[in-house]
Amino acid sequence: MKKLIVANFKMNQNPSETKQYLTKFVAGFNGNRADVVICPSFVSLPVATFLASGSLVRLGAQNVCDEEEGSYTGEVSAQMLKDLGVEYVIIGHSDRRNKFKESDRLINKKIKTALKNGLKCIVCVGESLADRNTGKTFDVIRHQIEECVKGLYENELESVIIAYEPIWAIGTGQNASVRDVENAAKVIRKVIYESYSEKASRDIQVLYGGSLNEKNVGALLNCSGIDGGLFGKISLNVNQFLDIANNLK
Ligand code: PGA
Repeated sequence: MKKLIVANFKMNQNPSETKQYLTKFVAGFNGNRADVVICPSFVSLPVATFLASGSLVRLGAQNVCDEEEGSYTGEVSAQMLKDLGVEYVIIGHSDRRNKFKESDRLINKKIKTALKNGLKCIVCVGESLADRNTGKTFDVIRHQIEECVKGLYENELESVIIAYEPIWAIGTGQNASVRDVENAAKVIRKVIYESYSEKASRDIQVLYGGSLNEKNVGALLNCSGIDGGLFGKISLNVNQFLDIANNLK
């Protein structure tokens, strides 16, 4: 099966830069080795959806409001994203958990609202360096997943993708090892198995993210139990990201 490759631009690239990026990416992407989801900022999504329309490139948002609509100044609803042609949304990225103090409970509510509105959720989980150093990695992942999927029906998991993103590996240039990633994928699937079924644990898509680059991508995305990757920094370089997406082994 083709790998799923997700680009998280974070708070980078103006709409005019995203326009240039998407124009080049859409023209150069062959779709032979991977499916691609690009997640620019909210303000770049209109131009991005316009340029990606009819192409192989899918689009995602980096966040969504947990509420459906109403008096939530400054927020963006799932319905608005759907209306724009956005198909995916990243929920629970460690930037949001840590810098914006998003709780597991809020993340669970965002997932439910996004699913209700037909969006696919890329849900991030992962331990901090302190958790890792004190041997709590698997407990942290287990807890985050249990809280994130709380109250979801098994069929809704078809639209949920779990991204294992150890916080100490994000933006640090220090990626997790093959062993770390395989062990994490095992725990993720085990939790889904215990909460749902063998089929659900097999079918759920699991990604790895954290300092992925052109050198480590082959080994890390071919880890057992891993279906793709979530890319930050390197995805901002259109040539490098195209190269990865087109030539993934
Ligand atoms: P990075 O970011 O590739 O720059 O480490 C990954 C992410 O935050 O999703």
